[in-house]
Amino acid sequence: MNKQLRKAVIAGNWKMNKTPEEAKELISAIAPLVKDAGCEVIACTPYVDLYSAQEAAKGTNIQIGAENCHWAESGAFTGEISAKMLSSMGVKIVIIGHSERRQYFGETDATVHDRVRAALDAGLTVILCVGETLTQREQGITDELCAMQTKIALNGVSKEELSRIIIAYEPVWAIGTGKTATAQQANEVCAAIRKTIGALYDSKAADGITIQYGGSMNAGNAAELLAQPDVDGGLIGGASLKPGDFAAIVEAATRG
Ligand code: PGA
Repeated sequence: MNKQLRKAVIAGNWKMNKTPEEAKELISAIAPLVKDAGCEVIACTPYVDLYSAQEAAKGTNIQIGAENCHWAESGAFTGEISAKMLSSMGVKIVIIGHSERRQYFGETDATVHDRVRAALDAGLTVILCVGETLTQREQGITDELCAMQTKIALNGVSKEELSRIIIAYEPVWAIGTGKTATAQQANEVCAAIRKTIGALYDSKAADGITIQYGGSMNAGNAAELLAQPDVDGGLIGGASLKPGDFAAIVEAATRG
């Protein structure tokens, strides 16, 4: 399959880090380091940072995204934020189904599906996270599990809408643990997910979809991971908070 057909995307996932003022500083520090990037550069920030991050990113090649959105357009959902609210403030990208949402906040494949639907309906691009726990890997069900998560999330998503879907393969055991999947493991699962997309849609869709790896990707291991034929980018947690490290990952993606 031809990697050149796909856009490489490096996205930071800031998680619950940075105040609005710090967000401005971080974007301003990253911007000059990634200005010549040959890939898309995204920073997904906490809701309260979106405005200041957007302001700081004006005139740069950094796009600002959110880390989640609710499935309803509005209503009695205390503490939640709708996709429409995000799009109305100019946000174009949102992470859905991150394993921390699944693990700590009761996110299920069904609610991931509903959030993906809402995000697409609001015109957003979705970074859809899938991935197995260590137990599931040991049980030998990684590919099936990722296929299931992908199929449920994308149920009813049209081929046209698929152009606004990026999939992030994030093995749960590799997130924030310093344990990275080997380049081969990452590539195998990204390839299996691509096969699932091929079965759900067609080979053109499979060839065209961007599939990222995420889980302890850093300045040291990014080049090897990103050189894999089925790894089209990265979703970066910890290292996205360090301008030099994040820029090194962007540089590695640029080299591909
Ligand atoms: P990490 O997080 O890079 O800190 O492992 C990745 C993620 O959770 O998206």
